[in-house]
Amino acid sequence: MSVDPLSNPTSQSAPGSIPPNVYTLNRTAQLEALYTIIRDKTTSRGDFIFYSDRIIRLLVEEGLNHLPVIPKSVQTPTGVSYDGVGFEGRICGVSILRAGEAMEAGLREVCRSVRIGKILIQRDEETAKPKLFYSKLPEDIASRYVLLLDPMLATGGSAIKAVEVLMEHGVPEDRIIFINLISCPEGLSNMCGKYPRLRVITGWIDQGLNEKAYIIPGLGDFGERRYTI
Ligand code: URA
Repeated sequence: MSVDPLSNPTSQSAPGSIPPNVYTLNRTAQLEALYTIIRDKTTSRGDFIFYSDRIIRLLVEEGLNHLPVIPKSVQTPTGVSYDGVGFEGRICGVSILRAGEAMEAGLREVCRSVRIGKILIQRDEETAKPKLFYSKLPEDIASRYVLLLDPMLATGGSAIKAVEVLMEHGVPEDRIIFINLISCPEGLSNMCGKYPRLRVITGWIDQGLNEKAYIIPGLGDFGERRYTI
């Protein structure tokens, strides 16, 4: 018998018109302070990395709260048995390049020796649609829960394409947990409209998109802020 993880996540289902498979972190003052630092355009690259890593760690921990567990008994050093739980399935991470790569370390910190695949999606200049350029995934990915990593969910084009790639490799939709730093209603509606059975863990849902498809208020270009000195 597995214990339904949806009965005990610490995140909350997002309110109102936000799809029911979206979960946000609890809006504590600490979380808001962390987001204020990374949104601030005067924040140094070093601080941007440090504080975005702190939020990513919280998001990964929350993603793990959504994994199913099964009853497990252990013997403690006191000679008494303890009836606890253990994770039911195996996981892996998949980062959407390049920004998603920044989330890999946060996953490795909490899941020792976790396998991590990569997907590169870029806009096809002819069709203007997201196109798969490269993927390297664990060969047994179909039997794992997948934590899909991308910090910014704007229109959702890349994330939707990435889920398509995972499902082509045999990963069931309901075994995909999308981990995201900042999202917006447009991206959530596009992604969850197409894939209502995956789960989205997002740290913050912003107002929307500007004419260049940047998230507003957002934090600008995540990759530039993280990788450009
Ligand atoms: N990617 C980013 O880095 N920032 C946005 O606002 C949207 C997509």
